This record gives sequence, structure tokens and C-alpha cells, in this order.
Amino acid sequence: MKEVEYDAEDAELGDFPHYMLKEIYDQPETIENAIRGRLSFDEATAKLGGLNMTPQELRAVDRIILAGCGTASHAAMVGEYLLESLARIPTEVEIASELRYRNLPTSTNTLLFVISQSGETIDTLGAMREGQRKGHRVLAITNGVGSTISRESDGGSYMHAGPEIGVAATKSFTSQCAMLTLLALLLGRMHHLPVSEGIRVINGLRALPDKIREILKLDAEIKVIAEKYAHAKGMLFFGRQFNYPTAVEAALKMKEISYIFASGHPSAELKHGIIALVNEDVPSVFIAPHDTVFVKNVSTIEEVRARSGPVIAVTTPGGEEQLRTICDDVIVVPESAEWVSPILCSIPLQLFSYHVACALGCDVDKPRNLAKSVTVE
Ligand code: M6R
Repeated sequence: MKEVEYDAEDAELGDFPHYMLKEIYDQPETIENAIRGRLSFDEATAKLGGLNMTPQELRAVDRIILAGCGTASHAAMVGEYLLESLARIPTEVEIASELRYRNLPTSTNTLLFVISQSGETIDTLGAMREGQRKGHRVLAITNGVGSTISRESDGGSYMHAGPEIGVAATKSFTSQCAMLTLLALLLGRMHHLPVSEGIRVINGLRALPDKIREILKLDAEIKVIAEKYAHAKGMLFFGRQFNYPTAVEAALKMKEISYIFASGHPSAELKHGIIALVNEDVPSVFIAPHDTVFVKNVSTIEEVRARSGPVIAVTTPGGEEQLRTICDDVIVVPESAEWVSPILCSIPLQLFSYHVACALGCDVDKPRNLAKSVTVE
């Protein structure tokens, strides 16, 4: 791996009241840093030099296992959708703490990838070492420069997101998603992703910083919505396909900093049990961009409405009109391709949980019982 020094300014709070808010606002730049120098228009692909693998070795990969903990495992879930749809490579997500004690059958062409912001999480480190003990090459996506995982891994890439001080992972999640998009693009172009699709992915990534800036302008509007729901007894988060991981991640953000019980689910799971929790005191947040599953999300929203559950939706302009007629509150983010949608849809929900926690007077940057980096088992 190539080391990159952090700029001391990156760790300064400036005018922000909390690191979490500053780090949410850092995201146009952190995404730019993640993709800078890693896109090739000429070849319609990505370049990830630190992987230490020849094109032949990369091409031979026929299965990928992504492992991480907490937010990193949610980015891995996004990666699963990305690698399967862009690269057509079977991909599984394993929670690192489970992977290290499982006897997972793997073959020579199985690639193990660990994801960790800090690069110090003991369970992720343990999963990496167990993979290496079995003779696998284990690659890593990390942010912590010179961290144990970055040093011991067999290759990988840094996110270049700068220090993340707030306990709640924000910019590291979106950077991990961006890195996994690069990986999926690289592997996709080695298999059957045509040039035209490769260019579409590149353009989608390059458009992100400006779209994130647009989303950050919604901060005041999101604060008003958050204050309205801050005293909820619990919250449910729903999404489908690429935005199922977004729902799980948004729920983790909510519970860790506001102490409101929250859970994230694939939307269609509502009717398999979760619907029993729906009532007027439990808002449901739907991540429902105007995509191929929009209509399905709308019918699930109707189910919640029919049981008096308040609904907040995150959507894109194409879905706004319809959702305004059936939801209590609607947050509109810019239209995007589905591969980058989790990056854009997670940001308003980071702001949502931040403002809920502030309204409740919680210690946003240092929530109770939590450490930034979990270095004990
Ligand atoms: O440093 P890591 O990415 O390995 O950390 C993994 C988790 O401990 C971390 O993402 C945790 O879930 C966050 N506090 C979530 O916001």
C-alpha cells in the first residue's frame, strides 16, 4: 500500500459543533479523494494499483468474500450488489467476527477482502489472519494509514478520507462504497462490462461530489423533520436491493447516537413479521428512489399507512410527486444510477440521525458504551 499523510486541518472542528457533522460535510471532498487518479476514461475502467495482483490473477477470481464489522459490513453489503451486478462475480458478505471462527469452504480463486476504517478492529484483523493462515491472499480497504490491517494485508487501497473522529462512521461508509464501486468496475471491465457501461459508472462516480453538495443544502429541512420524530418510541428503516444496506446502515446510525431502537430491513420483509411493530409512535423511513423497485416500495409504504404508521421517504425527483401524496415527509436527493444510490441516500439519513440525537441532547461524537475502534474481542 502507498502511504498518504493526513493533513492536520482534516482533524480540526472549525465552525462545526460536532465532528460527526463536520465529517458528514466532508463527503464531497472525501469521495473526490477516493476516486482521484483511479479512473481511466480511455479504458473505461478503474485503476487500483495497491492490490498487488496481476490482471491475470484478478481475472481468475471466481468468488469474493467481503468481511468487516458494523458500518464496514454494511458497505460490504453494498459491495455484494455492486460486484454481482457490474462484475458478475459471486460475492458474499461475512461479519468478520463470525468469519474468523467459521470453517468456510473456499477455493484457490476465492478472493478475501476485509474492510475497516480504522484498520485496527480486532475481529476484522482476526478474519484477515485466519484467511492468510489458510493460504489466501487477503486484500484490504482501510482508511487508517499505517494501521495493522494495512500493514499485514497482502495488498489493498486506502480510502483517503482523512481522520474520522466521531464514533459514528459517516464519511468512511460512503468512501468504502466508492472504493467498492471502483473494484466492481475494474473486475467488471475484465469480464463482460462493455465500454459504454464502464463510462456510465465513471460518470456516475464523478458526478457524486456535486450531488452530495446539493444534498447538504437540505440540512435545515432535515433538521425540522428530525425534530418532529425525535421522541419516537422506535424507528424502522426499509430499502430494497442496493438500498437495503442503506436501511441497515441508517438504523445503526440512529440507534448508536440517539439510543432510539431502530432496525433496517429489506422493504418486502415488512409483511413477514415487522408489520406487527407498526403504529402511530413508530415512524418508518423508506429509501425509495425512483428506480426499478420504486413501485414495490410504494405498495409497502401503503401497507404502513394503512396501519397508521408515520412514513418518511428518501426519494429522487421522479418519485417525489407520488410519495408526497402518501408520506408524511419526503426528502428528495438527486437522481443517480443505482450503483451509487446508497452513497447519496445514506447522507440525508446521517443528517437525520444526527439531528434526532442533538434534539435529544445526546453526546453525538462519543455515544455511551462505544469506542471508535474496537480492539478487544
Ligand atoms: O474501524 P472499523 O471500520 O473496522 O470499525 C467497524 C465498526 O466498529 C464501526 O463501523 C462501527 O460500527 C461504527 N461505530 C458505526 O457507526
